[in-house]
Amino acid sequence: MKADVAKFVRFCDSPLGKRILRKEAGYIYNELRGNESILDIGCGIGSFEQHLPTLNIIGLDVSEDMLVEARKRSDKTFIQGDATDLEFHDSTFDAVFTVTTLEFLEDFQKAVREIARVTKPQGKLLAMMLNPHSEYFRENVQRPGDYFQRIKHTNTKEIQEYISRFYVVSKEELFLGIQGEQVFETDDENLASLYVLVGTKKR
Ligand SMILES: C[S@@+](CC[C@H](N)C(=O)[O-])C[C@H]1O[C@@H](n2cnc3c(N)ncnc32)[C@H](O)[C@@H]1O
Repeated sequence: MKADVAKFVRFCDSPLGKRILRKEAGYIYNELRGNESILDIGCGIGSFEQHLPTLNIIGLDVSEDMLVEARKRSDKTFIQGDATDLEFHDSTFDAVFTVTTLEFLEDFQKAVREIARVTKPQGKLLAMMLNPHSEYFRENVQRPGDYFQRIKHTNTKEIQEYISRFYVVSKEELFLGIQGEQVFETDDENLASLYVLVGTKKR
């Protein structure tokens, strides 16, 4: 697990990693600013907490090793916990976001139910998932030992349909072109590395 963290730190701190992070953080900021309490599911090393200092985000991750690194990067609150069994009361958060995490969970349905439970009525969900049709995904998933090989769900439609049981989906789009070291705007299915969904919790 510590090896995972070291790999992740290396990637996040690389020039490409920083470019990707800047775009993702900008997207999250535009969608979630104005929300008083925000939960980040699968926060990893706390990159978004570090780069979005004005948002009140609690980071949650199952890996204590990730959280040790996250706590070095910002003074936000980080909690060790499992997305499929959240230790928060019902309707705690105005918004929840999750970046490249849901699709790696065996039981993503249980995580979605838990996320919905802790979201306030009319609260927001922002989920960014890997677009399995992108060049970026297809190249990386072939590399021996790559994290992408641990993906459990590549059918974003199935995840979208399940999320739709609990949230009114207001936005679905492809985002973030990555080719080599370049990061650019695109919604081309072959080039956009992320599938993004935004929803409002049903009453
Ligand atoms: C690909 S990383 C994404 C990290 C971060 N969201 C980002 O984009 O920089 C996925 C993260 O999900 C975490 N994770 C895996 N299973 C989890 C679970 N059941 N509950 C909470 N976090 C989990 C992993 O420890 C890892 O930090």
